[in-house]
Amino acid sequence: MPDLRQGCSTGKNTEETMPADALVLFGAMGDLAHKKIFPALYDMVRHGHLDVPVIGIARAARTDKHLKERVRDSIQQQGGNIDQGALAKLLQLLRYVGGDYEKPGTFDLLKKTLGSASRPAHYLAIPPSLFMSVVESLARANCMKNARVIVEKPFGHDLASAQQLNAALHAVLPESRIFRIDHYLGKEAVLNLLFFRFANSFLEPIWNRNYIESVQITMAEKFGIEGRGKFYDDTGAIRDVVENHMLQVVAFLAMEAPTGLHCDAIRDEQVKVFRAIPPLDPKNLVRGQFKGYKTEKGVPPDSKVETFAALRLEIQSWRWSGVPFLIRVGKCLPVTTTEVLVKLRKPPLENLAGESTNHFRFRLGPGEISISLSARVKRPGEELVSKPAKLSVVEDHTADEVDAYERLLGDAMRGDAMLFVREDAVEAAWAIVDPILGNTTTLEEYEPGSWGPHAAVRLADDVGGWHDPEGRKEDTVAAPRAA
Ligand code: BG6
Repeated sequence: MPDLRQGCSTGKNTEETMPADALVLFGAMGDLAHKKIFPALYDMVRHGHLDVPVIGIARAARTDKHLKERVRDSIQQQGGNIDQGALAKLLQLLRYVGGDYEKPGTFDLLKKTLGSASRPAHYLAIPPSLFMSVVESLARANCMKNARVIVEKPFGHDLASAQQLNAALHAVLPESRIFRIDHYLGKEAVLNLLFFRFANSFLEPIWNRNYIESVQITMAEKFGIEGRGKFYDDTGAIRDVVENHMLQVVAFLAMEAPTGLHCDAIRDEQVKVFRAIPPLDPKNLVRGQFKGYKTEKGVPPDSKVETFAALRLEIQSWRWSGVPFLIRVGKCLPVTTTEVLVKLRKPPLENLAGESTNHFRFRLGPGEISISLSARVKRPGEELVSKPAKLSVVEDHTADEVDAYERLLGDAMRGDAMLFVREDAVEAAWAIVDPILGNTTTLEEYEPGSWGPHAAVRLADDVGGWHDPEGRKEDTVAAPRAA
């Protein structure tokens, strides 16, 4: 089957619409580069999708050799067999530029290293507080002509700073050349939500307030902040994963069918969902912090930053009015998994179905990626008794699977913005969470390994409680025999 995308093309074939001819990676010695970006670059080379110079920039006074060692280490840490040919090719493409992001000399050196490249893609994998000054310095050093800028999340710190950042970026380049990353948009399992909804006709008649009672999304992480104390304490769970990853999942679950796969068709529908969500009310929020967080490196001993958030929102649209959407995210929870549970309303013959209802469950990984529908069927035997049954599709990890960063970097280098967050969407998303940022509610401590503060229970009381991704035993219900 051909790829269904129609890209972002305006029909014009100008320098601006051609693939990038160099990738400049700011934050090359950082954690994100080591964990996610280098493996993505290596996969791009393996798949024949990267053949341009890659210039790593970081503050440290290092050399090409150091960068190559760091890249080699990152690929080795992925485990598995290494394609030595691909690795050698990637190493060959690498150059290093070291220097202070505040000093013009760093950008002059970058300009020189870019040589004849005339359409660089600058990837800002650096703290958000540096975005503006780096972009301005790039423009001053004449590195912005025909360039694209790829910006890591979080994009801004709140609505006002996101607006400011958008204005600063637009002062030096148009929206069509800005690629705001939310890696959830590049995940196979998240994209599959779109396919499951819009590549099938059976779902549409029931995918609305008439049949759906509630939707809940849990993004649970068993691990803590993994040495990212400074970043995390400036950010907190709401900015780290709710404003972006979780709201994107909500958008894919709730949007109307896009009119096609032109890069703006999906983005238009995303932003409509965000605009239909009223700003969150702190009374629908529970924040928690795991015990021991304050002693992590980089975290102040009096930190009030949340590592857990549970919240409830509504979408004021014809399709979703009255259906609660619940989101729960946290570090140091009992499992690592992201799961969506879409609960259907009860059928009228309660004595057949019992207390349990049908639901769709989407496991978005890591690990299991699956879609299942819980249903009830007759239990074989003499008695008229129903039992739970599960129809499920479990996606095995296949050789064709593309990692989110590989997909997104390739798209950005080609200039396809479909899976990137547009200016209006990023501001609409911040507008939703703006009233719950900071210390708007009391922060409750929770035990590592638990499901967060007990207070979160009340948010899900009327929808049958939070779903346990580890699975609960379902009941068996007997139908009364006719007399
Ligand atoms: C990142 C957050 O954006 O997403 C992390 O900064 C989080 O805190 C991570 O752990 C989760 O991503 P994934 O792909 O592992 O679900």
